[in-house]
Amino acid sequence: MPFELLLVETTDRIATVTINRPDKLNALNAAMLAELATAMGALAADHNVGAIIITGAGRSFVAGADIGEIAAESSTALEAFARKGQGTFRAIERTQKPVIAAVNGFALGGGCELALACHVRVASTKAKFGLPEVKLGLIPGYGGTQRLPRLVGRGPALKLILSGEPIDGTEAHRIGLADMLAEPDALMATTRAFAAGILAVGPVAVARALEAVDLGLDRSLDEGLDVEAKLFSSLGNTSDMREGTRAFIEKRAAVFTGS
Ligand code: COA
Repeated sequence: MPFELLLVETTDRIATVTINRPDKLNALNAAMLAELATAMGALAADHNVGAIIITGAGRSFVAGADIGEIAAESSTALEAFARKGQGTFRAIERTQKPVIAAVNGFALGGGCELALACHVRVASTKAKFGLPEVKLGLIPGYGGTQRLPRLVGRGPALKLILSGEPIDGTEAHRIGLADMLAEPDALMATTRAFAAGILAVGPVAVARALEAVDLGLDRSLDEGLDVEAKLFSSLGNTSDMREGTRAFIEKRAAVFTGS
C-alpha cells in the first residue's frame, strides 16, 4: 500500500501504521485522514493481520488537526470537517481486530481523539495528551467530548477539555486515559508484546468481545447484557470455542484457526 503520509508495515501478523509527517508534528490534514481510512480498511480486511498498532514518526503522535486547514472555514464547512473525522475514527473504533495506540509524543486535539478511538492506549512517559481546542476558540470535534468522559469520567475529562492544558503519559495512565505506560525506548516493544499476546487467543472471540463492548457502551445495562448473551452464544458455532475449551480440559495449548 503506497501512502504519502503513512508508513504501513506488517511483521508477525502485527501491522504498524506510522503517521509520517514529522516536520509538522504529524498534524492531521484531510489527505492524512483519507489515507488513514484507506489503510485501516485494508488492514481490517487483511487475513494476514491480527492486530494493528498506530504510532507517530518523530517526537509526536499527532499534534492535532491541521489548524491551517480550519482557520478560515465557515460553520458549514466545520460541521463537514467534524463529521468526516468522526466517521473515520468511528470506523477505527469498530474494527474487529485490536487497534492499539502507541503514543510516543504529542497526542493533542485530533491526536488525543485518535488515541481515544483506539481500543487500548500505551503511553510513553514522554507523551503529552491534551485537548487544547478551547485555546483556539473551538471544542474537540473528532469525538473528544464524548469518548473522554466515557473513558475517564466527567470530572477528569472536563478538567482537560476546559483547561486545554496537556498532561504527561504518567498522569494519563493515572487517570485511565492511558492503559499502559512505558519508557520511551520500550514503547514499541511493550505495545508489540501486548498485541502478540492477543494474537495467541481466539480471533473470533476477540472480534466478538470488541463488538460486545462497543455495542454495550451505547445501551442500558439490560440491553447490553442481551447483546452479550447473543454474542456469547454465537461463539457456540465456532470451532475455536470447541478447541479452546477442549484444550483446557486436555491440559494442552489451544490451536485456534479463527473459524
Ligand atoms: N496544525 C498545523 N501545524 C502544526 C500543528 C497543528 N495542529 N501542530 C504543530 N504544527 C506545526 C507547527 O506549525 C510547526 O510548523 P513550522 O515548522 O512550519 O512552523 C511544526 O509543526 C513544529 O511545531 P512547533 O510549534 O514549532 O513545535 P514546538 O515544539 O514549539 O511546539 C506543540 C509543539 C505541539 C506544543 C505546538 O506545535 C502546538 O501547540 N501545536 C498545536 C496543538 C493544537 O492546538 N492541536 C489542536 C488542533 S485542533
